[in-house]
Amino acid sequence: MERKDLLGLKDLSREEIEFILHTAVPMKDIIKRDIKKVPTLRGKAMVTVFYENSTRTRTSFEIAGKYLSADTVNLAVSTSSVQKGESLKDTIKTMEVMGFDLVVIRHSMSGTPHYVARNTSMAVINAGDGTNEHPTQALLDLFTIKQYKGTLEGLKVAIVGDILHSRVARSNIYGLSKFGCEIRVVGPSTLIPPGLDRLGVKSYYSMDQALKGVDVINVLRIQRERQQSGLFPSLDEYANLYMLRPEHLTRAKDDVLVLHPGPMNRGIEISSEIADFGPAVINEQVTNGVAVRMALLFLMMGGSRDEITN
Ligand code: CP
Repeated sequence: MERKDLLGLKDLSREEIEFILHTAVPMKDIIKRDIKKVPTLRGKAMVTVFYENSTRTRTSFEIAGKYLSADTVNLAVSTSSVQKGESLKDTIKTMEVMGFDLVVIRHSMSGTPHYVARNTSMAVINAGDGTNEHPTQALLDLFTIKQYKGTLEGLKVAIVGDILHSRVARSNIYGLSKFGCEIRVVGPSTLIPPGLDRLGVKSYYSMDQALKGVDVINVLRIQRERQQSGLFPSLDEYANLYMLRPEHLTRAKDDVLVLHPGPMNRGIEISSEIADFGPAVINEQVTNGVAVRMALLFLMMGGSRDEITN
């Protein structure tokens, strides 16, 4: 990959996205082996720096690095010198001069990874910045859709829920639109930002209308930690209108695929019947997340392709 950093899907070309997804295929084979380790990134070092909580993204980056033999370190922000007032810039410089080649960063403020990228020689991967982008989540979503549908071209995709606060929605919209997908968003009007039509996205307020004939439903988490009071009356009211339940699927195509980035609020945005027994591929998304992140680490820290395929 020609880029030093991966900051978002907005600026990535379709060809770059296809190349990353293509590279993730042999990575997934490595995860299935008995011995899940190749020497490709031996001698390289990466650090994860998460200013927000995470289960999937941080852990999958760490194990992805280990499967490729990179030295991986997690900076535990809550017990680090950040708590003594150390600035972001100084924290990142400290990681750089220790010799890390790549930093994976998550921050509640949109644009933080871009700021970091301008101020370090390390490669930077955005693991989620405020309400802006979560590019690796969208890449694993695209990889998963392609795995089940065979193509991304021209699919009808509905994104359900809190679009306003969702960096996952934004990155998915940027990614899917490069493949000619018809993108619909659905949720309460207070959680759908204006101006999405400029990105070619259709906004809906009724699940029945939005899900008619769709190939993929991507259900977003209700972000209680970002929720301003008053955007919808109550979680019960939200669940009544927008929780994905089995009867909604009759509106979609017979082979509809259901995605959720996790963590799930069961009984609020998704029913357990869908999450556990329906056409949901949520666990497969998590596995694919490791493969896609292995691909990115490989491309950004300069591994040799022969070592992956042998
Ligand atoms: N999907 C996602 O970003 O999950 P985590 O917050 O657990 O990393």
